[in-house]
Amino acid sequence: MRLTEVKTGDELDLGGLTLSFIETRLLHWPDSMFSYLKERKILFSQDAFGMHLATGAIFADQNPSETIKRECEKYYANILLPYSSKIIALLDSVGETGLEFDVLATDHGPIWRRPEDISRVLGWYREWAEQRPKLKAVIVYDTMWGATGKMAASIADGIRSSGVDVKILPLSGSDRSEVATEVLDSGALIIGSPTINNQIFPSLADALTYLKGLKPKNLIGAAFGSYGWSGEAVKQLNQYFLDMSVETVSDGIRALYAPEPAQLEECFKFGEAIADELRSRIEAV
Ligand SMILES: Cc1cc2nc3c(=O)[nH]c(=O)nc-3n(C[C@H](O)[C@H](O)[C@H](O)COP(=O)(O)O)c2cc1C
Repeated sequence: MRLTEVKTGDELDLGGLTLSFIETRLLHWPDSMFSYLKERKILFSQDAFGMHLATGAIFADQNPSETIKRECEKYYANILLPYSSKIIALLDSVGETGLEFDVLATDHGPIWRRPEDISRVLGWYREWAEQRPKLKAVIVYDTMWGATGKMAASIADGIRSSGVDVKILPLSGSDRSEVATEVLDSGALIIGSPTINNQIFPSLADALTYLKGLKPKNLIGAAFGSYGWSGEAVKQLNQYFLDMSVETVSDGIRALYAPEPAQLEECFKFGEAIADELRSRIEAV
């Protein structure tokens, strides 16, 4: 049998060892396929359970556990997130077949060999694929002279004061893959941009175009930004939310040039209101 001809359910005799092929239902690429070495209980999982981590420590348990979790999550958020419903179906079907794994060997990154690590990564995949809203908000923004940045800080203070965790990501120091990773772990996405030439700031367009393609789910959203005269940015950010099917919980908030203390107080309340809305939605589930 040539490898190019294998089909789901085929078995290949490797001279005493049997390699069986398990379809992944188009997980990532159309030709992606799990293969399973029966006698050794090794699952060659291709893209699944991997990460973009180049390390000489080839087993997951030889690396710091926080690094492994973060890199695994980053890979999921940036590569696999759009396929989440297929991943849930795959996890269900693998569970139903009762396949046992002693080793998960992925194409990218370290190999999983300890039972506790294997069940941990399977649990993470289910959690990330289900995308249940979390009691955490992420604020993604950019700023030319700090006005939108001040708004971001006050919104974050308001969120925190309501007991919700918040991560602030200024795009001057965060790349789009970091944004996607934080969004995976959040229930609210708050985006801020100054208006420049009647548009949003280009770095926001970059990050949001990327994020839109990853199809994050179960988020609430809100927009903010400073402006000088026409102030289109907030309206355009709301359009991104609409395109991403993210429900906005407000029309957004704008400040003329550098925000006055009264406007920063408004931003604080805006943050509180978003946090309260997030909490009540999570409690209602
Ligand atoms: C090149 C440039 C173009 C701008 N174009 C607009 C515009 O079209 N409409 C508007 O309302 N403000 C415009 N502004 C004003 C900024 O939005 C305003 O200064 C804002 O406070 C900047 O916020 P930031 O400090 O967060 O960057 C422009 C500013 C610059 C430098």
